[in-house]
Amino acid sequence: MKTQEIGYMDAPIPVGTDLKKEINRLRKEKNAVILAHFYQRPEIQDIADFVGDSLALAQWAAKTTADVLVLCGVHFMGETAKILCPDKKVLVPDLNAGCSLADSCPAPQFEDFVKLHPDHTVISYVNTSAAVKALTDIVVTSTNARQIVESLPSDEKIIFGPDRNLGNYINSITGRKMVLWDGACHVHEQFSLEKMLDLKKEYPEAEIICHPECKRYIVEVSDYVGSTAGLLKHVIKSPKKQFIVATESGVLHEMQKACPEKEFIPAPPNDSTCACNECNFMRLNTMEKLYNALRFGKPEIFVDENVRKKAIRPIRRMLDISAQLGL
Ligand code: 13P
Ligand code: SF4
Repeated sequence: MKTQEIGYMDAPIPVGTDLKKEINRLRKEKNAVILAHFYQRPEIQDIADFVGDSLALAQWAAKTTADVLVLCGVHFMGETAKILCPDKKVLVPDLNAGCSLADSCPAPQFEDFVKLHPDHTVISYVNTSAAVKALTDIVVTSTNARQIVESLPSDEKIIFGPDRNLGNYINSITGRKMVLWDGACHVHEQFSLEKMLDLKKEYPEAEIICHPECKRYIVEVSDYVGSTAGLLKHVIKSPKKQFIVATESGVLHEMQKACPEKEFIPAPPNDSTCACNECNFMRLNTMEKLYNALRFGKPEIFVDENVRKKAIRPIRRMLDISAQLGL
C-alpha cells in the first residue's frame, strides 16, 4: 500500500461543500463510475451508478467504458477491477478497507498448501489478494461457487480457500470432498445461534436467511443460504413478510428499498454491545472519502504486472463459466 496515496483520503473538505452535488459533477467531468458493494453505507449505495455483489462488481468492471472506477468496497474488490482493467484508474475511497477473510490467507502460506496438493485444482474465493489469485486455477464468488464446482468432473481433486464455512457448505451440497483452507470472516463468524432462535420465537413467521460465510450451525437453521445478490433476489420473490438476515447489515438497505412492505431483522451478534454485524472495513468508505477520491484521483489501486498476468486467468475463467451458466 503506497503511503502517498493515503494522504489524500482525509484531506479537509471546504465548509459548505454539497457532497452529493460535487460527487455528481466530478464523476461526469472525469468520466468515472461509482460501483458499490451491498455492504456499503446507505448513502454510498444511493449515489452509486451500480450496487451489486462481488460477482456483479467484477462483471461490471470487465465491461465498463469509463476512464475511472471508484470501487466502494474493500481492497480485494478494487484489485479484481484493476486486474481486469489495467489501463483504467481504479480508486478505493479508503485504502485501509481490507478484509479479514482475505487476510486469513497469506500468499506464501497458500503457496505451500498448494504445493502439498500437487494434483489438485485450486479454487479460490474472490475474497483473496491478487497474489493468492495468481496461485489459483479458478476464482469463484458465493453466487457461482456451487455451479463452478459442479461443472468440474466429480472425481476432480480440489483445494478450496480461504473460507472454511463456504467450503464446508459447498462440500455439503455437492457431495465433494474439497480440501479446505482454514480461513474465515470475522463478521460472519460471530452470529449467535441461541439469540437467533430466541428471535425466531419472537417472529415465528419470519424466514431465516444467511450468507454461506456463516458458521455451519447458522446455515443449518436457515431457510435460504445465498450470496448478497441471492439473498436480495430471495426476499423479493418470497411470499414471506419478515426475514431474519444473517449477513453484514448493509444489505438490509437495498432489501428495504426493494420491499418497503416487508420487515428485515438483522441477525444478532454474540456480543450485544457491539455493531459486530457491520463490517468495519466496508464502513471505512464515507461520502467525504468518496468525494476526495474523485477530487484527487487517489488513493489508487496498483497490481504488480507479473502478478496481474497470472491472476487474470482464474478470474476470466470464472467470468467465462458464469456467462455460459447464465449467471
Ligand atoms: P458477496 O459476493 O455475496 O457479495 O459477498 C462478499 C463478501 O465480502 C461477503 O462477506
Ligand atoms: Fe471481508 Fe467479512 Fe468484510 Fe466481507 S464482511 S469484506 S468477508 S471482512
